[in-house]
Amino acid sequence: MNQLLAPESPFNQEQRKFVEGFLTALHSVRKAHSAQQSQTDAPGAPLTILYGSQSGNSEALSKDLRKAARNRGFGPDVMALDSFDFESVGEIQHLLIICSTFGEGDPPDNAKKFTDWLMSDEAPQLPNLSYSVCAMGDQSYTYFCKAGVDIDNRLSELGAQRLADCVLCDVDYDDDFAAWKEAVFEHPSMIEAAEEGGAPIGADEEEPEGAAPGNWSKVNPFPATLLRVQRLSGDDSAKEVNHIEISLAGSGLEYEVGDALGVWPVNCHESVEAILQAGNFTGEEVVDFKGEARPLRCALLRKVDLQVLTPAVRQKMDLPCEDDWLRDRHLIDVLVNFAPQVSAQTLVDSLRPLQPRLYSIASSPKAHPGQVHLTVGAVRYEMHGRICKGVASTYLADRLHPGGSVGVYLQKSAHFRLPEDPSVPIIMVGPGTGIAPFRAFLEERIAVGATGKSWIFFGDQHQASDYLYRGWLEQSVSDGVLSRLDLAWSRDSADKVYVQHKMLDAGAELFDWLEAGAHFYICGDASRMASDVDRALRQIIAERSGGSADDANAYVDRLIQEHRYQRDVY
Ligand SMILES: Cc1cc2nc3c(=O)[nH]c(=O)nc-3n(C[C@H](O)[C@H](O)[C@H](O)COP(=O)(O)OP(=O)(O)OC[C@H]3O[C@@H](n4cnc5c(N)ncnc54)[C@H](O)[C@@H]3O)c2cc1C
Ligand SMILES: Cc1cc2nc3c(=O)[nH]c(=O)nc-3n(C[C@H](O)[C@H](O)[C@H](O)COP(=O)(O)O)c2cc1C
Repeated sequence: MNQLLAPESPFNQEQRKFVEGFLTALHSVRKAHSAQQSQTDAPGAPLTILYGSQSGNSEALSKDLRKAARNRGFGPDVMALDSFDFESVGEIQHLLIICSTFGEGDPPDNAKKFTDWLMSDEAPQLPNLSYSVCAMGDQSYTYFCKAGVDIDNRLSELGAQRLADCVLCDVDYDDDFAAWKEAVFEHPSMIEAAEEGGAPIGADEEEPEGAAPGNWSKVNPFPATLLRVQRLSGDDSAKEVNHIEISLAGSGLEYEVGDALGVWPVNCHESVEAILQAGNFTGEEVVDFKGEARPLRCALLRKVDLQVLTPAVRQKMDLPCEDDWLRDRHLIDVLVNFAPQVSAQTLVDSLRPLQPRLYSIASSPKAHPGQVHLTVGAVRYEMHGRICKGVASTYLADRLHPGGSVGVYLQKSAHFRLPEDPSVPIIMVGPGTGIAPFRAFLEERIAVGATGKSWIFFGDQHQASDYLYRGWLEQSVSDGVLSRLDLAWSRDSADKVYVQHKMLDAGAELFDWLEAGAHFYICGDASRMASDVDRALRQIIAERSGGSADDANAYVDRLIQEHRYQRDVY
């Protein structure tokens, strides 16, 4: 920056120095901010890659897409949908979007603003735009891939041209994503744009992610060692929650607080034996799974999902039932009810590949070097007269023993981070297993000697049996490292008390913290808790600021924009 103030500006020398210093600082903050908002990879043909991601899958795929784009001669801009300057959409020629679906068919938090704008009357006609959408989702949800599909339809309605059809990716998305990527870059207009871009094609050829040992990832997980499983909930609790410690020694994996750990589970032996028996299989039959031959028993244990059934099961096994019947049935129910005469190969082909599960990391690497801790609720329930077990949570609780090996990888959560400035106050709402990342946050803040105040809202059913990490939380309060702890027990009194009620009770102080710049975090149940807490937050803001509901919504929008309202919900 050269001369910042015109010579005729009405400042004396001292004032001029101050104002110029201020403007220089502002300029550098802006520069740093825009560098942070997008990862620009010029030179090369212009290409915009936008992602909407809640738990990190789409964000990770956007990095893969960026690498592929660079290898083909593009210089892509990559950013979250909500970080994109909507006004500039008319200037873009090539746009690729990867967007997941959350809640009841909703876009992820970092795609809401974009989606609202795109669906509104403000969105312009886009006749010069070529685009394609990769919609991420899970077929077991009613609104499969809805957010991505809505974006695709709307862009088409606005006159933009599809480079490739919108792909609907289920949980096993690797092959579909790869095929979509190929189709996009093979489109003549993309080839032409890349040629015009003039960057050397293939200049950035790198090992595909996950292929090299040590390059641990979802497809190439690190064989970590389970160190310890400690039950956190009491014997009388209706829930079983375990504190899990895993060693990452020798992996080179480095995580930050806020990240999640991906865990590859193994199905339950007894369930597999029951399936073999019900289907009249020995387990020794050799089946092909993704080009590799293996015994059926092994495929059922490690490779396929025995619980979530898709319409492929009905089609491939020729079952006399509606797809709806399959919604709350497992493979064993199908075999027992219909005794389909199918080969071992058809059985495997009809099932979804087994998927890893994500867990919010409950430790700071500064407090526990070489380890990662989790807070895992064991899923156990009865369905159609059978006792059912969640695959990964009971694998960690029951079937994997200390010293045993479990495949893990890190899922970065760039959207869920402590404030960079350790003096900024933080408010954390994390009932049940939602406490996990806040244990990590607090450990981190203690390790760096943060001076900012911290406040946790925790709750569950009963204080006596569900007060997770009680000793540690209470010690943190008495040590002064946790400034305030509010507890909500929903079944200890006639009135059901939840964290949102505790927030409302403390509304005045909570608002003061927000006004002082606090960051606000929610972790845990997405189905009800997260929306109840969100509603309570807006109510507090409206009441305490004396504004309308619209003003409160605008206040929350500002918090989101400033990354001061972050959610890790599931
Ligand atoms: C970003 C992220 C972070 C997460 N962090 C954590 C965490 O810190 N701690 C934690 O415990 N979990 C966490 N989870 C959830 C976790 O990933 C798993 O979904 C959870 O542990 C269940 O996995 P599972 O394999 O044990 O159960 P699954 O085998 O996946 O079974 C769960 C399924 O069982 C069915 N089911 C469950 N209860 C019933 C019932 N009563 N009746 C009928 N059907 C039922 C439902 O279909 C449910 O989807 C997180 C998820 C995400 C996305
Ligand atoms: C709480 C929750 C709600 C979800 N809701 C939907 C849904 O309504 N429709 C859908 O297709 N997928 C749904 N999914 C699946 C996600 O879209 C899928 O896991 C996707 O890969 C996540 O990508 P992301 O990590 O980029 O957010 C949901 C997942 C979670 C954890």
